[in-house]
Amino acid sequence: MSLVTLKEVLQEAERGGYAVGAFNTNNMEIVQAIMETAEEERAPVILQASQGALKYAGLHYITAMVKAAAAAASIPVVLHLDHGTSFEQAMLCLRHGFTSVMFDGSRYALADNIARTLRVAEVAHAMGVSVEGELGKIGGTEDDISVAEKDAFLTDPTEAEQFVAATGVDALAVAIGTAHGPYKGEPSLDFERLAAIRDRVQLPLVLHGASGVPAESIRRAISLGARKINIDTDIRQAFARAVKQVLQNNPAEYDPRKILGPAKAAMKEVIREKIRLFGSAGKA
Ligand code: G3H
Ligand code: 13P
Ligand code: ZN
Repeated sequence: MSLVTLKEVLQEAERGGYAVGAFNTNNMEIVQAIMETAEEERAPVILQASQGALKYAGLHYITAMVKAAAAAASIPVVLHLDHGTSFEQAMLCLRHGFTSVMFDGSRYALADNIARTLRVAEVAHAMGVSVEGELGKIGGTEDDISVAEKDAFLTDPTEAEQFVAATGVDALAVAIGTAHGPYKGEPSLDFERLAAIRDRVQLPLVLHGASGVPAESIRRAISLGARKINIDTDIRQAFARAVKQVLQNNPAEYDPRKILGPAKAAMKEVIREKIRLFGSAGKA
């Protein structure tokens, strides 16, 4: 199949009341782990690359790998820019054939975030590409911020309504207490806020920082409108654990296939568990 847009897969997810996994990729083994698992589970899937991933692997490599994988697959596949922070980055991704871009203007004040997101959305939509916006700040677990500060960073439901109406985004990333990276304790999510956002915004919502969030919280977020769920850290950790294990068991090993093969298998298990949890298995 050729690549499909984020809007298409999320519309289906909305109809079916499930979420689609958005898995970050940086290299060939991760692309293969995501694609093989999604195909085995008959699940629509989103492969996303951050600006850091594009810098590391090269935009042309990421694009070529995902397009080749999608062409050989029989499930809907979206190629998405994760946390794009400039108009130029979004345009480069459009030119290379991404079917969805995120513009993360969360560091700006509301009016500025709206203006910058709208600029990307106007061009992307004219080219048939979907756009994800972000309102509120989804920080990192390492960010040293107080509880009061944390609260101020969460998405305001009234502003969400205004943001969506003004930008026309296809999906909205919300800050409800999740954070990027490994959690120190159990994350506490503001479900009342999520419900209030959902009341005002009839749009697929995106949950970032979903690695390490307990299954029950994920299910509840899906019941309140989370339709795209981002996972990176859990995959990275499975990769690193497997590589360490191989080299610990056999320090003399030097064949990349024997080191990265088990890492791919470990990543597949994480991805399979998430796809089943999100309810997207069997939906393609
Ligand atoms: O949202 C963050 C993702 O996990 C990507 O992280 O910028 O290190 O590639 P990265
Ligand atoms: P985690 O690394 O916490 O899973 O977050 C992924 C993410 O939100 C990518 O945008
Ligand atoms: Zn994110």
